[in-house]
Amino acid sequence: MTLPFAESYKIKMVEPIYKSSRAEREKWLAEANYNVFQLKAEQVYIDLITDSGTGAMSHTQWAAMMTGDESYAGASSFYRMKNAIEKITGFQYVIPTHQGRAAENVLFSVLVNEGDHVPGNSHFDTTKGHIESRHAFAIDCTVDEARDTQLELPFKGNVDVAKLEKELSEFAAKIPFVIVTITNNTAGGQPVSMQNLREVSALAKKYGKPLILDSARFAENAYFIKTREQGYQDKTIKEICREIFSYADCMTMSAKKDAIVNMGGFIATNRQDWYDAAKVKAIVYEGYITYGGMNGRDMDALATGLDENTEFASLETRIKQVEHLAQKLDEYGIHYQRPAGGHAIYIDAPQVLTNVPKEEFPAQTLTVELYLEAGVRACEIGYLLADRDPVTRENRFGGLDLMRLAIPRRTYTNNHLDVVAAALKNVFDRRHTITRGVRIEWEAEVMRHFTVKLSRMKG
Ligand code: F0G
Repeated sequence: MTLPFAESYKIKMVEPIYKSSRAEREKWLAEANYNVFQLKAEQVYIDLITDSGTGAMSHTQWAAMMTGDESYAGASSFYRMKNAIEKITGFQYVIPTHQGRAAENVLFSVLVNEGDHVPGNSHFDTTKGHIESRHAFAIDCTVDEARDTQLELPFKGNVDVAKLEKELSEFAAKIPFVIVTITNNTAGGQPVSMQNLREVSALAKKYGKPLILDSARFAENAYFIKTREQGYQDKTIKEICREIFSYADCMTMSAKKDAIVNMGGFIATNRQDWYDAAKVKAIVYEGYITYGGMNGRDMDALATGLDENTEFASLETRIKQVEHLAQKLDEYGIHYQRPAGGHAIYIDAPQVLTNVPKEEFPAQTLTVELYLEAGVRACEIGYLLADRDPVTRENRFGGLDLMRLAIPRRTYTNNHLDVVAAALKNVFDRRHTITRGVRIEWEAEVMRHFTVKLSRMKG
């Protein structure tokens, strides 16, 4: 008999979690204004709000923390981290930052000016935020196929090269760089193919524009290239990573994802002019250039995590767990962005809560229902997160309205995910009775989903 698949690790430390009652959850969620970001973590049973900073570090990462050098300037931890990054990406200039959005802030302070256009594939909300707050425009050139959740394609995170070329030819003078997010979080954790990266890089070069990779989940993207793209089956993840970064001029990284640390990020590049300009901003915003908002011990954990998580076995364990949840949802007939993403499953909320009008935020409503059902915390990646159009101030209802179940790395077992799937099935089974959603009572100007206050519509 063929042996079943099992995790590439065993567990040596655990953390209890609390299973609450429905009455408790009703009270807590009302106090949180129906915004799950406002819940206390202890009020959550299974927390799938994000895979960012919520992974379980390995024993070698914990051991590496003990070797942390906390010197203000020139810490050896920084050089270990820099060497690990250079080995994997080929970029020699590294600026540490406290997390991914800080890397965006530092780099964009140098590169993005008012009125600029920054084309890419579904910019993540902080990336979009850092562009729009500089009165520039984030231009989404993702392939149209990404908008059809039921289409089963291997690289739905790709950039539409024709859309990008149109943008480049019309607005060349206003474009400081092209940014590609790997994997494409907003479109459902969908990967970008090597071929697409190659084409985008060539196109950017043709117009004299640099290419930046938002690399939060580049290792998961490399896993998909190895398992889905012709010609890469026999290459190691590390070889694939080197090729990915060879097409780019620079990367920003939220290390809280694929480097499996609780906090940290960086900018890496081979462009000395960008490095020289960005390091001045880094000192102002983050800290001296050999720590940039990170502890020495955290840089050591990052270096080790980056090395470990660019190995096939680690990524295979991870992606197969995401697929496990997807298989359960297939059994129950619940629609999600197909195929399963690298770090999460994205439920197509309007296809589940068919009676909730878009003005009442179906994905947020589903997030509320799932929490009340079982204490499972998901996250809306939909109309709330899309914010309002900066010019018209209208809600942006044009994109997908998804509820994301993000799976922390090495944190939960498949049993937990079975609970999540069953809870979702229970909501799905009574979907016809859910006819009203939520209403905004208060919202911030940008990135409103974190702090928005909602009420439940009655009727
Ligand atoms: N880029 C991408 C693609 C991301 O997914 C994130 C964060 C960032 C940049 C910003 O990094 O959080 O370290 O400042 N994504 C998290 C998420 C928050 O839940 O998807 P950060």
